[in-house]
Formats: sequence, structure tokens, C-alpha cells
Amino acid sequence: MTYSIHQQRRAQLARQLGAQGIAIVPTALEHPRNRDSDYLYRHDSYFYYLSGFTEPQAWLVITGDGKTTLFCQPKDLEREIWDGYRLGPADAPQRLGVDAAFSVTELDAQLPRLLDGRDVVWYPFGTHKGLETRIDGWLTGLRARVRFGALVPGQQSDLCSLLDEMRLVKDATELATMRRAAQISAGAHIRAMQLSARMLREGKDVREYHLDAELLHEFRRHGSQYPAYGSIVAAGANACVLHYRADTAPIRDGELVLIDAGCELDGYASDITRTFPANGRFTGPQRALYELVLASQEAAVAATRGGARFTDPHEASVQVLAQGMLDLGLLDANKVGTLEDVIDKRAYFQFYMHRTGHWLGMDVHDCGAYLEPGELGQVSSRKDALTGETIVNRPARILRPGMVLTIEPGIYVRPAEGVPEQFHNIGIRIEDDAVVTADGCELISRGVPVGASEIEALMRD
Ligand code: GLY
Ligand code: MN
Ligand code: MN
Repeated sequence: MTYSIHQQRRAQLARQLGAQGIAIVPTALEHPRNRDSDYLYRHDSYFYYLSGFTEPQAWLVITGDGKTTLFCQPKDLEREIWDGYRLGPADAPQRLGVDAAFSVTELDAQLPRLLDGRDVVWYPFGTHKGLETRIDGWLTGLRARVRFGALVPGQQSDLCSLLDEMRLVKDATELATMRRAAQISAGAHIRAMQLSARMLREGKDVREYHLDAELLHEFRRHGSQYPAYGSIVAAGANACVLHYRADTAPIRDGELVLIDAGCELDGYASDITRTFPANGRFTGPQRALYELVLASQEAAVAATRGGARFTDPHEASVQVLAQGMLDLGLLDANKVGTLEDVIDKRAYFQFYMHRTGHWLGMDVHDCGAYLEPGELGQVSSRKDALTGETIVNRPARILRPGMVLTIEPGIYVRPAEGVPEQFHNIGIRIEDDAVVTADGCELISRGVPVGASEIEALMRD
């Protein structure tokens, strides 16, 4: 018998629960948007990782002996006429490889029985509204039966601690999906760039939403279910708002456009940012800042490899950006001192105030510890030069092949005294998705170029 990837993951998890352990994993809740219309449903990532099952109102219960019970929506012809096909408990064992399946309406009846005799209950802490209360109710029900021989678990543990570690290193199936997601997103960025230049050439009124529509069309036509996060399409000064969304602002000839957008494909995210001249030609000051951000990204890419620390790419890009800020006069050396001072005192923060990356996977800001698990005891502290706060440091995560992270330095120049006017209101970020390999990284999002001249060339065509 061959086991599906989801069965293999469940078996791997079961081995970590302890012989008498039990794990409870609900999928995501449905959320009303207005009156009786829900937000488009998106399953829970942990649940999907272990089941591949995307219906709402479903739960997995996995025990230390490797057995899985699924609770899912019962077959119901009338509801299926309105809402669509349901797998139902009868077909679930054969389709999903679970050992038993019940209707979700059986949850309250079955859970005390499944919990009886277990020692540790594992469930994801702090991720599902109301979950703690439900589990508490089942345990209370079981406690009421101790005089009749029930044995109540004495310990609760956070299931995320186990699943986050598993999810952090992607397997070949996951990487294949992520490569495809990144490829679709790269094509969408190219389409948006080309539309911007074309509409401006034709003298049309281009708006941020025109480019957003282009992204969505390209995502969906390749089978992506939804954007992995709210797309940012920021014209001109809007690029200096880090969490700006695609809105109605006009895209003007001579300005830059920053697009941060990626599709989700079969449960996996991509996350790409490109910044390009609306009309297809960088001005001198735009190009100077663009080349600086690109050089900082190249330094970060060079620092991304198995054995390096998660913080190494960030530190590499900060070095380049800070030096560039001094060279271009964004920072005045007479006021801020040397490169070392700029970094120590975080003077670069005026123009670069976010980190250079994050884990990427099923969630755009994916799970996984940013600290090295074996080195948590190595605590040091320092006083932050900007805020005066005491910052506690622990050694950052050591990168391993199969981890996926974004590399996304940027520069955001808000008008301020002493800041050369030619750079005012320019916001630039360049973001790629990197799979860590033993001696470097694979950039899976480079289907859309980053070189200034290459971008200009594709916008001419
Ligand atoms: N698009 C979200 C991020 O870049 O982190
Ligand atoms: Mn990102
Ligand atoms: Mn992004």
C-alpha cells in the first residue's frame, strides 16, 4: 500500500504525540461578510497540511498510535443543492486514508470517548476562536465520569510547536506547487507593467485598480484560487505606505509604481514585489535608488544559504542600503557619522523600517520559529539606540535546505528636512521568494525580471 503525502505527515506527527497523546485539529471557521453572505472560504493551513481536505466544518483527531478520525459535514442533498458537493463520512476513509469518519454533528458525543485514557491533549493554541472552550467542555464531560473509570488527560500542549517545525521545511510536493505559484505571479507582474506603459502611451487614465484587475485575471486564469494576501498597487507616493492596498489613485507618467502581489495556488502562497516606472523609463533619481535597492537585494541573496542564519540576509542588505543612503545624501555623514554609526544607531530606519524577509509557505507570513531551537538558552541583551528599550536577543534560526523565505529590501523616502528633493515620495521594494539550498538559494519568482534595463525592455514591447 502506498501512503499519500497527508498520511505520511499524519504518521510523522503521531510519532511525536507520545503513545497516549491525542491531537485535535479543526479547520477554519466560516466568516460572515454581510448578513447571510460569507467571505470566500479558506481552509485552515494546519488542517489542510494533514488532510488535503478543503471543506469547512471539519476536524481531525490523531492519536499517538497513528490512528486518524475525521469529522466532516454529513451528506445532505438539500444543502448540497444550495452549497455544493460534500464528501461525507462514508467515503472519507477511502478518499482521505483516515481510519474512521463521523458526521461533525457527532463531535460532542465522540470527543470525550476519544479523549478517555489519553495523557496529553495537543491542539493549536491561540489560533481558533472558541477552541479552548470546546476542548474544556469535552474534558469537563469526561471528568464527570471519573467515578465510572474515565481517565482524563492531565496535560495540554501546543500542537503548533510540532506542526510549525514540520511545515518550516518544505517537501518536494510543496516546492513544486510553490514554484508554480511564483511563476503565475511573475507573469501577472509582467502583465501589469506592460498594461501601465501601454495605457499611458495611449493617453488613457490609468488607475491602480486597472493594474490590480490585470493581476487578478492572470492569477485566476491559471487556476489560482485567490490572491495570497491583499494586493498592493501603489502609485507614486502611495508606495511609501507599507500596507497600502490597490485603490483608485491615478498612475502618472514619470512616477514609479510599486506592486506587491502574489497568488495562492492549491493552498500555497507566493509573494512578489516589483517597482517600475509607470511609463517604462526610470528617471535618474529613480534609477539611482532602484539600483541601490537591487544591490542590497543581491547582497541578501548572496547571504542566503544552508548553514547561514535567518538574520544574515537582513544584515547584508542593511549594510548596502546604509552605505547607499550616505553616498546619495539621504543621510548626512556630518550628522549621522560613519556607516557603523548609521547601523548601530539605526539611522537607516528613517528610510528602511522593515525586515528583509519572512518564512513563506501555505501562509504568506508562514509559521516556523525564527530562533534556533537548540540555542534558546543563549540570551544576550542590548539597549536599542533609537528607542532606549532593552532588546533581548537569542541566536537566529540556522537556514536549512527546503526552508522558503522572502528577500525583500526596500527604501521609502518621505519628504523631510535635509532629504534631497529629487528623492521625495519615492518608494521602492524588490521582493523575491527563495528556496534555501545547501550552498545558496533558488529564486523561484524571477520569471519577472529585476534589472532596471530588463524591466524597461519588457515595458517597451
Ligand atoms: N506581501 C506581504 C509581505 O511582503 O510581507
Ligand atoms: Mn513578503
Ligand atoms: Mn510582499
